[in-house]
Amino acid sequence: MHDNSLDARQILRDLGVPAPVSVARVTGGRDTAVFRVNLGDGDRALRVYGAGQMDGLWREVEVMEAARQAGLPVPRVHAVGIDDERPALLMEWCRGRPVTHELKARPWSARHQGVLFGRTHAAIHGVRAPAVLHELGRSWIAWARDDELGARLSERTHREDALLHLDYHPLNVMTDGGAITGVLDWTNARAGDPRADYARTLSILRLDAEVEGRLAPIARVVIRRFELGWRQGYHEAAGEPSDLAPYLAWAGTVMQHDRAPRPGVPGGLTPERLNHIRTWTAEWKRRAGW
Ligand SMILES: Nc1ncnc2c1ncn2[C@@H]1O[C@H](COP(=O)(O)OP(=O)(O)O)[C@@H](O)[C@H]1O
Ligand SMILES: [Mg+2]
Repeated sequence: MHDNSLDARQILRDLGVPAPVSVARVTGGRDTAVFRVNLGDGDRALRVYGAGQMDGLWREVEVMEAARQAGLPVPRVHAVGIDDERPALLMEWCRGRPVTHELKARPWSARHQGVLFGRTHAAIHGVRAPAVLHELGRSWIAWARDDELGARLSERTHREDALLHLDYHPLNVMTDGGAITGVLDWTNARAGDPRADYARTLSILRLDAEVEGRLAPIARVVIRRFELGWRQGYHEAAGEPSDLAPYLAWAGTVMQHDRAPRPGVPGGLTPERLNHIRTWTAEWKRRAGW
């Protein structure tokens, strides 16, 4: 979100939060802006959404609470701003830094960071999705917005009950170097088969790193070691997922629209990158026998 006129202090007043000591903008993602707020008795994160995202925010808060109560490292929600023009979420500030930053600062620890990241991913999949994720129209299959692919996937048997994050990547996970301190950004969460979430993360590490430049400052070789660690940590905790090709075809299809260019929003895919993802997706469809 690139609206610089956002007045975080006003939003905090609307949330009933006493005057903060300091407010600093952390990031502006494509859909939200995040501020670090010092309240005197500790820090909070304020995440501000675009107009009309209130329904999504309600769902996200319910998912975060369910995940936290299940024992996952997820920031506690302190307040939710219900102004539909500018929905906002005030939550606990997680210690440490995003895994991406850790990888940049300490590239030699990539494998170990990956293992921790993989264990937490497996722990997410050990949690049953809360009821709010079983709402009509929120099926993980439908997220690919491809009827033919959806029909093919529907012929197979999947789990529908696991909690899936669906944006589990190194910018959305916080670490203090020795442990994961927070899993952020539950906007995409759905109920479904853990293999879909596993495939989604693999697609991000393999494609998005090159594509969007979000991980680009980190050398491919570091991301590759991180990926090996993630798989090791995940497999040790949850077993190695079988029959991944259909899920990778799904994840490639998701990425084609998730990262598609949007008018006025920087960071969309170039035609060459889109082609690369299409080729990747086609290869997994072939391996799925489609
Ligand atoms: N609760 C939090 N504690 C610490 N840092 C946070 C917190 N929430 C967000 N951040 C910081 O803001 C960045 C973006 O947050 P995120 O919720 O993923 O929003 P988006 O992806 O929409 O920009 C994270 O990578 C992290 O650096
Ligand atoms: Mg994010």
